[in-house]
Amino acid sequence: MKFSVLTLFPKQVKDFLSESILGRAEEKGILSVNAIDIRDFSGNRYGKVDDTLFGGGTGMLMQCEPVYQAFSSLYDAKKEEKPHCIFMSPKGQVLTQKKARELSKYDHLVILCGHYEGIDQRVLDEIVDEDLSIGDYVLTGGEVAACVVIDCISRMIDGVLPNSEAYEEESHMQGYLEAPQYTKPNTWHDKTVPEVMLSGNHARIKEWKRLHGLYDTWKRRPDMMEKLDISSDDWKKLLQIEREKKEEENKGIPSAK
Ligand code: ADE
Repeated sequence: MKFSVLTLFPKQVKDFLSESILGRAEEKGILSVNAIDIRDFSGNRYGKVDDTLFGGGTGMLMQCEPVYQAFSSLYDAKKEEKPHCIFMSPKGQVLTQKKARELSKYDHLVILCGHYEGIDQRVLDEIVDEDLSIGDYVLTGGEVAACVVIDCISRMIDGVLPNSEAYEEESHMQGYLEAPQYTKPNTWHDKTVPEVMLSGNHARIKEWKRLHGLYDTWKRRPDMMEKLDISSDDWKKLLQIEREKKEEENKGIPSAK
């Protein structure tokens, strides 16, 4: 899969994505990230790509033509289809795992990053297919957000992680959070690993993970829980887990006597 990021800060994007798992995936040729400097398309020797706002207002706005030329340099309009273009913006639809999975199906994704006060609306209307936000807060520019999107999509591309189980069991993949996880030693600070984890019984372990993932979703993210269709049988089991947890907590409280 190919990502082309249109930005005023290509180094920021490249530096972030060349590290660790994504860097290795790029070396292996599984994905490529191309960061294009919009200033290279300024058409003037100062690299100026912004101007003051019509109608007043503070700050500067990125102009249409440099953005349009940078985008047009990515494909041959006579022979190829226009690549799918995302604009990173706090006004966009908020990124979810489902959205990332959808986007992972494209061969080539163009991600446009704004800076300053933003980008002239006319070029956005012409080249952008969808706006995407990474949360309800405002960043200084779209670069960090673009890196988040690329990271989230890339780990679902075959070959980036060791196997698909590595992400399929994780939080958000099935609409609920991942269960707690444990490693050696079996006992640490008087805390033991749940007995089922040491049982070697895969069916029991799978069920434990499912129920404790649901339990954590219920307690931490009731908004996600509302979207799940929990059977009455599962609710009984979740209430049982809650009772057991309360008993466990009460054991730690010294008696009043
Ligand atoms: N640019 C500025 N804030 C942003 C956000 N929350 N998400 C995506 N891009 C942005």
